[in-house]
Amino acid sequence: MTQSIVVQVGQCGNQVGCRFWDLALREHAHVNQTGVYDEALSSFFRNVDQRRAGGADATGGRITALKARAVLVDMEEGVLGEILQGPLRSLFNSTQLISDVSGSGNNWAVGHHTYGLTYREQIVDQVRKAAEHCDCLQCFFLIHSMGGGTGSGLGTFVLKLLEEEFPEVCRIVTSVYPTAEDDVITSPYNSVLAMKELTEHADCVLPVDNQSLVDIVGKIQHMSNTGKPSCTIKKDCTIISGQGGVVKVEKPFDAMNNIVANLLLNITSSARFEGSLNMDLNEIAMNLVPFPRLHYLVPSVTPLYTLADVNVPPRRLDQMFSDAFSKDHQLIRADPKHNLYLACALMLRGNVQMSDLRRNIERLKSTLPFVPWNQEGWKTSLCSVPPVCHSHSLLALANNTCVKSTFFELRERFVKLYRRKAHLHHYLAVDGMELAGFNEALSSVSDLIDDYTHLEHPLMPNAPRLTIAT
Ligand code: GTP
Ligand code: MG
Repeated sequence: MTQSIVVQVGQCGNQVGCRFWDLALREHAHVNQTGVYDEALSSFFRNVDQRRAGGADATGGRITALKARAVLVDMEEGVLGEILQGPLRSLFNSTQLISDVSGSGNNWAVGHHTYGLTYREQIVDQVRKAAEHCDCLQCFFLIHSMGGGTGSGLGTFVLKLLEEEFPEVCRIVTSVYPTAEDDVITSPYNSVLAMKELTEHADCVLPVDNQSLVDIVGKIQHMSNTGKPSCTIKKDCTIISGQGGVVKVEKPFDAMNNIVANLLLNITSSARFEGSLNMDLNEIAMNLVPFPRLHYLVPSVTPLYTLADVNVPPRRLDQMFSDAFSKDHQLIRADPKHNLYLACALMLRGNVQMSDLRRNIERLKSTLPFVPWNQEGWKTSLCSVPPVCHSHSLLALANNTCVKSTFFELRERFVKLYRRKAHLHHYLAVDGMELAGFNEALSSVSDLIDDYTHLEHPLMPNAPRLTIAT
């Protein structure tokens, strides 16, 4: 069995990360009722006080205390302070948490350059310690938002550190993109600056956009209240139903973060449990990324539920396969059917037969536009353990050119600010940040959009050429 380490950076990264740990613990507790520390648990948790002399974590014996294989970083004290007081506190040693006081003030340059320089050694040290506790470290999961300063700036600094220190370990990044109406005025700068780093240093990026999460949670809440879809959810997670009724979700972002945590539970299920057809985490990049920079994998999850509404009616198996290719189940807003698939992974959980999987792929294949040179570009996995309270679930990861519309919108918003040089001085006042950095980041995202466009229109004489990074 292999192990993975989660590195969660900034407010969003830590809040999403903690939803993952909470739900993962529930899943393992549901499956493992013996109280014995097993291989499944060892993939993301260590069992302290039970180590063999000189060895990595023991994989036998009673569970004495579980610690998450994680490093938590936030330059503001608040969120980490809450974690240390909250129900998950025993999962982390205080040394696994790295924080400053006041945060990066929504400034990528402060996170990347100022805090990067200051906290580099401490972060490397904690990641190395977590790695030493692993027998066979396979993957880093980095979780962060693109819109603020710490997650985007320091998060991408940490990504580079991981590449330098552990070049052979796969880096899968979950990146939460801001909405167009985001409270953070500088979020387009932070996101585009972060994108350049993600494009250059991640093996795979799973982009999730907050507007999709808002839409999904709104629909789920409304469905469970009235049985009918349609309602809106505001920033503070106040949900306004079609009839004008207002429902307040207890903690802002919790419902949205549960959706992202479910994505993480699905993608890691093969690593956490035995399955009839396991997919190694590093096989994801190997199979789904034909060109190194084009490693943005659009996630779709089905069934969709937040923790409060686990009683959603079960989806028929074939319906779930159709869901996985509809834009309503996608965690970014774009229409995959009007764009081109380079490759696709289907990760199934529950009691499903290989024949069901094959039959559905055959059924859908003819309806999905794949690049002509990779018509067989499907990767599948089957994990027999379903999510708690559900019979099945399915995660699709599509390397689809539709992701470029998210980047396109972001670039538009970046250019609007940049043309007026708005807020630039806050960035340029930071040691290490130069104007060239903005231009390079803008070119990087433009090149990426061009690469996807070129794949869709290879025969257009004026279509931009595909630039393949080496
Ligand atoms: P600084 O506060 O500037 O130091 O950086 P940070 O990384 O802590 O910022 P944060 O993660 O708060 O980033 C702001 C962006 O993330 C905005 O787009 C928010 O809407 C979004 N965001 C913040 N917290 C959450 C969360 O828990 N879940 C989701 N989905 N989005 C979040
Ligand atoms: Mg913050």
